[in-house]
Formats: sequence, C-alpha cells, structure tokens
Amino acid sequence: MKIAQDIHYVGVNDRTKHRFEGLWFLPAGVSYNSYIIADEKVALIDTVDVAFFAEYLANIRQVIGDRPIDYLVINHMEPDHSGSLALIRDKYPQIRLVGNKKTMEMVQGFYGAASADDVVVADGDTLALGRRTLSFHLVPMLHWPETMVSYVKGEGIMFSGDAFGCFGALNGAVVDRDMDIAPYLPEMERYFAAILGKFCVPVRNALKKLSGLELRMICPTHGPVWCEKVGEAVEVYRRMSHGESQKGLVVCYGSMYGHTRRVAEAIARGAAEAGVRKIIVHDLSVSQPSFVLADIFRYNGLAIGGPTYNGGVFPVVEDLLKRLAGRDVKAHKLAWFGGFTWGSMAVKTIAAYNEKMGMTPVGEPLEWKQGTSADTLDRARALGRSLGEAILA
Ligand SMILES: Cc1cc2nc3c(=O)[nH]c(=O)nc-3n(C[C@H](O)[C@H](O)[C@H](O)COP(=O)(O)O)c2cc1C
Ligand SMILES: [Fe+2]
Ligand SMILES: [Fe+2]
Repeated sequence: MKIAQDIHYVGVNDRTKHRFEGLWFLPAGVSYNSYIIADEKVALIDTVDVAFFAEYLANIRQVIGDRPIDYLVINHMEPDHSGSLALIRDKYPQIRLVGNKKTMEMVQGFYGAASADDVVVADGDTLALGRRTLSFHLVPMLHWPETMVSYVKGEGIMFSGDAFGCFGALNGAVVDRDMDIAPYLPEMERYFAAILGKFCVPVRNALKKLSGLELRMICPTHGPVWCEKVGEAVEVYRRMSHGESQKGLVVCYGSMYGHTRRVAEAIARGAAEAGVRKIIVHDLSVSQPSFVLADIFRYNGLAIGGPTYNGGVFPVVEDLLKRLAGRDVKAHKLAWFGGFTWGSMAVKTIAAYNEKMGMTPVGEPLEWKQGTSADTLDRARALGRSLGEAILA
C-alpha cells in the first residue's frame, strides 16, 4: 500500500491477540506497521510480530518483487517489531541492519543475528538511499533504551517507532486522511497511559529534541499514519507528557459485597452536586486497567477505595495503586476510602501508596467499620463535594 512517493506500508493486522504485551486489553486488535522505502537503495523500516511472517513477506514481495533489500532500519527492538528480523535476514542474506550501538547488542542478545556488515549509527547520523536521505535521532526510554526515530529529510516524514502509535487494527486504510480517526485518538491516549505513562520525562525530552524537524507525516509502528492530523497526534503527546488534564473525576473502587461500592456512589453523587460534569466510575474487578489508566490521565480528580482484605487492601485496588505508583501522573486531587470488619488496613495502605504517587490529598480519608451507615454515606457525599470543589477550583 503506497503512502508516499516510493514509500509503502507492508504491515499486518493482529485481530486475535487479547492482551498487548500480555497485559493490555485489545478490544479491536492492533497493527504491526512496517514500511518500505523503494529508492535507489531499498530500506525496510522495522518488521512485524514473527507469527505474521509469511503474510509480511508476501506484502514486501508485492512491493519490490525480486529486488534485494539493502537495509533494515531498526527503530525499536521490542519483539512486536523485531520479531521477524532473523527470518528477514535468512531471506535476504545481503541485508545490512541499521541501528545504534544498544540496538546491535539487543540484536545479538535476542536473535544471535548481528553481523560485522551492519551499520551502527549514532545520534544525528544519516544514510543516503538515493533520491532521499534518512537521518537517525535517538529517543532513549521511549520506551526502551535503544529507541530511535528515522526521518526523511526534505519530505518531512518521520518513522517514529511506538511514539504516536495506537491500539486498534487498521480497517482498510492506513493514512489518517482516508479513514475515520475518531476511534483512534482515545486509543493513542490509552497506549500512552499504559505503555509510556512511566516515561513522561523522556517523552518531553524527545518532543523538544524533535521539535526542530518539520513533520508532514508520522509513520508509527501501530495504528494510523498521521498526515492531516500530525498536529493532533503531537498535541496528545505534549499534553499527556506534561500531565495536562481536564476537569473531571474518576472514581475507582473494588468491592465484594457492595459496601465500598455504595460509598463510591455517594462520592460520585457529592462531586456531581459540586458541579463536576465529567465523572467516571470504575469497578476495578470489571474495568480493564488500561482504560482506567487512560481515564485517570485524562481527568484531574481521582477517588480510590477498597475494603480491607487479608491485612491489606482488596487486590484489584492494590493493583491499580501499584500501576499508578509506577507512572508519572501526579498533578491530581485525590480522596480515598475503605472499610474493615475487624482490623483496618485499607486506608493506611492507600495512604502509603500515595507517598509514591504524589497526588494532592483532599479531605480526610473516609473509613468505616462493617456496614455503611447513613452517616458514613453522608460523609462520603461530603467528601465527594469537597473533591468536586477542588477539581473545579
Ligand atoms: C477473603 C477476605 C479477607 C478479608 N480480610 C479482612 C481483613 O484482613 N481485615 C478486616 O478488617 N476485614 C477483612 N475482610 C472483611 C471485609 O472488610 C468485609 O467483607 C467488607 O464488607 C468488604 O467490603 P465490601 O462490602 O465493599 O466488599 C475480609 C473479607 C474477605 C472475604
Ligand atoms: Fe514497544
Ligand atoms: Fe510496539
């Protein structure tokens, strides 16, 4: 599929994987994008998951026929992209891999496939392909240490690796101008929250470093190619990496018998009374973590609660707390709540996690013993109102 002069999409769709990286729910699949630049030299940019190798090879041959491939540029070594590397090298023995020093170590470590002929590039190096020249820009920890982007000078085309990628398989078209992108932008946010949420500082550094490049087209390794909406894609990354959020509340709870849920409902009610209009309530036993994280990145208020469970907090609640403690999502107003039957630990556990999360506490943590009395629910509603006022302030 041609996306620009001499540049073709040769990626594949994975519509059967349930969880990306074994963790993140995929309701609409995912694409592994790879591109071919068929200039005087032929360069392949990244590969695809090895399970799709036969289809991938057919895509490549449809574009270049029997022509050899001169270079395989490796922007990112995660196996969803590097998985077909060794088989490509088998099919095209004369191919030269192009990557930085860290990439080549990983090529050897994962596939035992490094060669003395490979081209080791440093930050800013270039590679002439004929009519066009690629330049390479290291963007470490986006989201692995070897990650880089490749840029076509003059044409403003960036092969960005996972950056600006989305969950969601591609349905017919590849370039944004040829499709309805509405389902993909929230999926870019979910991808960011799940996979890049720990790396906001490296993302900001990368945006600063790349800001000198004119961008007319961004070709990521997942999801649509950004052309008309380059600005929107970059804006999502700017906003999310700076922790910018909208006014709104996410209420997250776990509950076995409904007491914690009733408190969560009362907190949501209180926030609505305070005038908050964006309120999302997640039962953490039901909602998928990546959707919960995306909502938390999106809105500036969070209420989180769970029952005391085996001397700690209910497991699905602790799971979210662990994920938040490992992410750069600080500028939030936080209220928390939790009940117990014989020995309270839930609210203490949440407080301990917030030492790492660094969110701004609002009001007193709400704690109750056994059943939820009318008084407890009144206090929950009042806590929701205080949180709502803090969110809107
Ligand atoms: C497996 C299990 C472990 C529990 N562990 C504790 C505990 O360590 N301390 C405590 O005070 N209550 C403990 N509880 C009691 C819960 O706090 C109580 O069931 C409460 O009603 C749960 O809140 P919920 O109604 O929102 O599910 C435990 C309950 C279960 C089922
Ligand atoms: Fe990746
Ligand atoms: Fe990826």
